[in-house]
Amino acid sequence: MKLCMIGTGYVGLVSGVCFSDLGNDVVCVDKDINKIQNLKKGIIPIYEPGLEELVLKNYKNKRLNFSTNLKDSVRKSDIIFICVGTPTKKNSNSADLTQVYSAGNEISKCINKFKIIINKSTVPVTTGDEIEKIILKKANKKYFSVVSNPEFLREGEAIRDFIYPDRIVVGSNDNRSKKILKNLYSPLISKGAKFIATQRRAAELIKYASNAFLATKITFINEIANLCEKTGIDVEDISIGIGLDKRIGSRFLRAGPSYGGSCFPKDTKALVSTADKFKTNLSVVKSVIKSNNLRSDLLSKRVSLILKNKIKNKIVSFLGVTFKANTDDMRDSSSLKLIPFLSKKGAKIKYYDPTGSKKEFKKLKNVQFSNSIQDSIKGSDIVIIHTEWNDFKSINFKKFTKNKKLIIYDMRNIYSPDKIKKNGFKYFGIGR
Ligand code: UGA
Repeated sequence: MKLCMIGTGYVGLVSGVCFSDLGNDVVCVDKDINKIQNLKKGIIPIYEPGLEELVLKNYKNKRLNFSTNLKDSVRKSDIIFICVGTPTKKNSNSADLTQVYSAGNEISKCINKFKIIINKSTVPVTTGDEIEKIILKKANKKYFSVVSNPEFLREGEAIRDFIYPDRIVVGSNDNRSKKILKNLYSPLISKGAKFIATQRRAAELIKYASNAFLATKITFINEIANLCEKTGIDVEDISIGIGLDKRIGSRFLRAGPSYGGSCFPKDTKALVSTADKFKTNLSVVKSVIKSNNLRSDLLSKRVSLILKNKIKNKIVSFLGVTFKANTDDMRDSSSLKLIPFLSKKGAKIKYYDPTGSKKEFKKLKNVQFSNSIQDSIKGSDIVIIHTEWNDFKSINFKKFTKNKKLIIYDMRNIYSPDKIKKNGFKYFGIGR
């Protein structure tokens, strides 16, 4: 099938490349000429394991192409995916849909045969209805169908999540497009992915409800971790103990810093805002947002306590600054609160991240990027493990430091407290 992805951000690029790998002809469109020229040279704008290889392979096979010409690309395609950003509006919690509606408007001018227009951007319930209205201004109802097909890709695991999804959700108000999409996804369905067809509005809400539920699960275990710290219990035992109940499930029950990234913080706020619009009070999601916002302050206080409130001139080694491992994404990372807090209190911070130095810390006083884990740890008073890259999982601390009083604050509970203590270092984790 001939597919067109509008927007070569995270969702558009990963989905487009994976669809081409399944044998479809895909053109990825973006307004950014630079980005398109780079993609044609195999230069990938985001860090995502395995993506570069797939781009190169499929571009070479001519199943994948990149273009800035939206009209031409839409005209030549049977299925158009809208994969543009839906950031939070300024001074509001609701999603800014300008790019989605603008894509709808552009598409409406190019309906030359029956086309399925799929919204893959994360959008509030009823956005599909609005897109349909926009396209109806220029095109006949017979020649298009607007469908919602949300994505469930995690950064850092996106290719695996695309190929082996738990489920594929297609929300459409007509059976013809449901059938075409089932066919498009058949290579994944035959490998075991469940295909769920719903009304369009239901698919839109499935996406927001999924992210809000996962954010709730994480926030729940983070609060339980707070209680564990006060009662001498290891939260890892609680995660295992409750997660083995199939009704609860063990995934997304890892306590850690506040959740971050480009999705959970934005989508929980947008869901609440949509519900408010429909005069429905999502009090659980509201308290999740509040609890998560307070979490970074809580962890800052804990660092202060660990350092006995003597932060000035302490050398802090920060391992991993992105919002989680296997990504270079800094959006809503808890390090954006923790590092400025420590810098303001007079600490000297040496941070290392496998994805390199970050512009966000350039202007901060006494914050420096280290070129290796070893450089970052050397001479430090405390090591804060902020993300769980494999690189951080078996560090020989004794080899890297002569400081016998080194404190390790393991925010991802990677290490066994007993083993660290046996080596003579002080250990603190989350909820243990
Ligand atoms: C999330 C969802 O997991 C995807 O299904 C969804 O498609 C995506 O948002 C999106 O809407 O586009 P992502 O933001 O890439 O994916 O990252 P996650 O792996 O979900 O992690 C989000 C945050 O939760 C991170 O800060 C992570 O450290 C934290 N987390 C996750 C925990 O603290 N504990 C856990 O057990 C799991």
